[in-house]
Amino acid sequence: MKLFVYHTPEEVPDGASPDCAIAIDVLRATSTMAAAFKVGVTAIHVFSDLALLRQAGETYPPAERLLAGERGGAKVEGFDLGNSPLDHTVERSSQRRLFMTTTNGTRCLERIQHAPMVLTAALTTRQAVVDFLLKRAPETVWLVGSGWEGTYSLEDTVCAGAIIERLATQLGQDLKTLTGNDSAIAAVSLYQQWQDQLLELLRLASHGQRLLRLDQDADLAYCAQLDVLDLVPIQSTPGVLVLS
Ligand code: MLT
Repeated sequence: MKLFVYHTPEEVPDGASPDCAIAIDVLRATSTMAAAFKVGVTAIHVFSDLALLRQAGETYPPAERLLAGERGGAKVEGFDLGNSPLDHTVERSSQRRLFMTTTNGTRCLERIQHAPMVLTAALTTRQAVVDFLLKRAPETVWLVGSGWEGTYSLEDTVCAGAIIERLATQLGQDLKTLTGNDSAIAAVSLYQQWQDQLLELLRLASHGQRLLRLDQDADLAYCAQLDVLDLVPIQSTPGVLVLS
């Protein structure tokens, strides 16, 4: 297995495709997707365009759907939910389809949606993603951070590093064998530096600070948890995620 890290969707090379591409948006889209599946959402349809999302969502009866929209960290007016993992409870979300748009996370998924295998990862699902990769053994894997409007995000890169570090340990391989680019090695170094202070790192990150200004400290605490959910969202058809 060879792992490559791209900090943002914009860094993903044109005209190439890995065996497996993994979208990461720790704050908060991929953490929220995992939380939604945990309480029984049946599928997640991702959109970057608000109007297209509304149009697709409205083909399902209101009792079977939830529309979730976030821009700039805040809920989009008129949507059922914003992008908080804590919004999802069994009562609200179980047996519903989630139609979701966020500033960066859904855009990241769109950028990699043509890869033959597309997953999402978060700190909360790190070990589940590692177990999935060990079982399926794809030859090339891209870990793609969502970043913020084209710029690097600490929280996505630390998650990529956490995945690579655990894979290296479980495979008994060194970084020279396992990594395909310098960003992958840098991601592991970031994780090794911060592994015991993940919440502090999320609070330091620029999007973490944006969310703190919006009183979302509880979301940061939720998203900083490592290995607490044993599930892996996987793309079934372009733009639609289900449980693997
Ligand atoms: C995004 O997609 O940019 C994020 O998930 C934003 C957020 O924290 O809601």
